Amino acid sequence: MSSVTVRVPAKVNVQLSVGPLRDDGYHDLVNVFHAVSVFDEVIAKESESISVRVEGESADQVPVDDGNLAIQAARALAKHAGRTYGVELVIRKAIPVAGGMAGGSADAAGTLVACNELWGLGLPREDLMEIAADLGSDVPFSLLGGTAVGTGRGEQLAELLTGGRFHWVFAIADGGLSTARVYAECDRLRAALGEVVAWPQASDALLAALKAGDARALGAELANDLQPAALMLRASLARTLEAGRELGALGAIVSGSGPTCAFLAADEDQARELAVALVGAGVCRTAVPAHGPVEGASIV
Ligand code: C5P
Repeated sequence: MSSVTVRVPAKVNVQLSVGPLRDDGYHDLVNVFHAVSVFDEVIAKESESISVRVEGESADQVPVDDGNLAIQAARALAKHAGRTYGVELVIRKAIPVAGGMAGGSADAAGTLVACNELWGLGLPREDLMEIAADLGSDVPFSLLGGTAVGTGRGEQLAELLTGGRFHWVFAIADGGLSTARVYAECDRLRAALGEVVAWPQASDALLAALKAGDARALGAELANDLQPAALMLRASLARTLEAGRELGALGAIVSGSGPTCAFLAADEDQARELAVALVGAGVCRTAVPAHGPVEGASIV
């Protein structure tokens, strides 16, 4: 096999409850992940050494050295297999860079699946999930896809069956936000307000809405503890969220650590109209309709 192509989805967190800061610098979470139809493609080609090239929107903002999570994924997989392997990776980006939609994690997950195939390793998904968890908190979910409740730092996953399809619009901002910085701002805000940080719990009403495929109920239950921090760091997002609500979205939330904003729509037509209206209102760089859940990293 000389080339393998893998398609891997973005995610939105329909509930992101951030618990206390742990000794290892991470936070215990309840993180309800939902994979949506905004996809990066990872193409893995035979090569002597490990390299990456990034194409598509904002490609110039993605590092191509060891700071690239896909390079780290290829190295980690080769190490796990106990041999030296090479691969030329080409990443075609559609997921916004540093946008709170797990784009880097998606590329790492896609690389694991692609190299497992290219190198003929035949490792089972469980092995890939373990390597994924070491690479980043969101990488296991990018492999799994669908909808899942994440605990621990987000890497321990329980799959959730949902009823039907949800329709979303993602309002993409200019420039990204650093995840670590948003978590640090969340800690700072909580300390400044003297908040007692509760142990995170999954919302029963949210899980019921997902299971029932009830978009209206889900819209009312969307919750993200990182949102106040993201709004502190990027005040303009308040206007983006407000515009979506005024335009009739069933729910409006910052996606993960932002700055992408996610809007839930009643159906595909409303999502399409909402995307056009958000761009028209001048509250985002671009707006992308999508649906979920969709499957995780898969060979195409
Ligand atoms: O796991 P990952 O490398 O994607 O996390 C990026 C950063 O996000 C971490 O360095 C940490 O600052 C923050 N984080 C956190 N708690 C989590 C997940 C991420 O504080 N559960």
